[in-house]
Amino acid sequence: MENGTPLPHHRPQWKSHIGFLLAAIGSAVGLGNIWRFPYLCYKNGGGAFLIPYGVALLVVGIPLMILEIGLGHKMRGSAPASFASVSRKWEWLGWWQVIFVMFGIVLYYSVVVSWCVNFFFYSFDLRWAPDPNAFFFQEYLMVSEGPFALGDLRTPMIGALLAVWGVSWLIVFKGVEKGLERANKVFMPLLLILTVAIVAWSARLPGAKEGVLSFYLRPDFSRLGDIGVWMDAFGQIFFTLSIGFGIMIAYSSYLPRKSEIVRDSITITLFNAAFSFLAGIGVFSVLGYMARTTGKPFEAVVDQSIGLAFVAYPKAISMLPGFEKLFGAIFFGILVIAGLSSAISILEAFASAIIDKFHYPRKTVVSILSGLGFLGSMIFATRAGIHLLDIADHFITQYGLVVGAIFECVLVGWILKAVKLRGHLNHSCRWKLPAVWDFSVKIVAPGILGALLLSSLTKELADPYGGYSWTAIILVGRDWLLYTLFAAVLVASHSWKTEPRSRMRRKNEDE
Ligand code: ALA
Repeated sequence: MENGTPLPHHRPQWKSHIGFLLAAIGSAVGLGNIWRFPYLCYKNGGGAFLIPYGVALLVVGIPLMILEIGLGHKMRGSAPASFASVSRKWEWLGWWQVIFVMFGIVLYYSVVVSWCVNFFFYSFDLRWAPDPNAFFFQEYLMVSEGPFALGDLRTPMIGALLAVWGVSWLIVFKGVEKGLERANKVFMPLLLILTVAIVAWSARLPGAKEGVLSFYLRPDFSRLGDIGVWMDAFGQIFFTLSIGFGIMIAYSSYLPRKSEIVRDSITITLFNAAFSFLAGIGVFSVLGYMARTTGKPFEAVVDQSIGLAFVAYPKAISMLPGFEKLFGAIFFGILVIAGLSSAISILEAFASAIIDKFHYPRKTVVSILSGLGFLGSMIFATRAGIHLLDIADHFITQYGLVVGAIFECVLVGWILKAVKLRGHLNHSCRWKLPAVWDFSVKIVAPGILGALLLSSLTKELADPYGGYSWTAIILVGRDWLLYTLFAAVLVASHSWKTEPRSRMRRKNEDE
């Protein structure tokens, strides 16, 4: 920057390589690893679920992680800027992703993080103890009878929500290096230390081994014939790796020219999977302990959904032989840290898109977005919040993220040409990308995702999700995606302050 005038290609940069890596891992590791992955495993055949999960990781997770990080690095722009650099006709795709993530996923995601904040404080007096189920659903959420019975706002959540948005605002407001990089340099080591400590603690409890070996990991291969199990695995891969969010594209646009994209993509993906696996061991150890202590069958103490972290797990915590308050505080503290480091990445992905296109100052953009995000989250803080969250999450992750990713594969694989992006990566990195990657981006990933999408849709039409009414599914699920698509097309039709391709890295460019 000279005389305060930003050059068209001026872009913030990570101060260190580890800063980028920690931020990307921080985005990937989130509520999805600690709360979603263990119950998906339990629900979908225990150890056998690791097979579809592993397949999804290999055929979609790693190739698309390389695609997103590679594209952001080459185009040096947010998702809309990067897609527009490939072809202006595809700019809408980038906007669609960042819009449904900012005005969809993060609105309910921040509410779940705010539950964790509240439960962190409730740990100090084990407030849920007499009856965790009644406490969570009736006293805390005060769940209404359906998605349209909004009821009033849940006041305990509002304070926590304000804190979640306040912290996110502060971090993203400070920018890439001073905000995101610094925050993740504190968050990630802390998260890892606390997680290892709590897993080691859990694994020593009586009954822990049985919980892990007989229920978390015991494979039930018969479940692999169920298409729903495969859909859960693929949906989880997108959610947990933050793929299709526009995040990894924005984060990698802040990398220097010489970067190890392939190595970093594999590191992020494998670290994230290992973290999920570890979290599962911790969760099932504690549930195994509870089954042994109560003498009840394991199936009776475990829950397959949201209840796992907020009902079954708190119940187990209150039965621990000692230091149960500390244990509760650490567990919910871990969820808060993991959730915050993902929430800030979503805010950054959208903010960087707006800044790229309109050149508004970061501080203004982030402040307005955080305010809007806080207000928008309120809908999920009503008594109908959990129903709305359930529907929105199902449609955005199973359809929005997947459809977006299929288009991404078409755009990069066929329009930009996979071989061209591979050439860029092989020019910039020491770890070379083999030609099989082209095939997986052009054919394998979109083919499998397309097939899964069709079977998922067929299932959906025959049996509406979660037993909700069609009206709720259409208004909250389908329309959420359609309105965001409409908004995306509208924003994409607006002209750029500077030509998006002007920031692109060319082969012999010297930075
Ligand atoms: N990747 C983030 C998570 O798993 C969104 O929670």
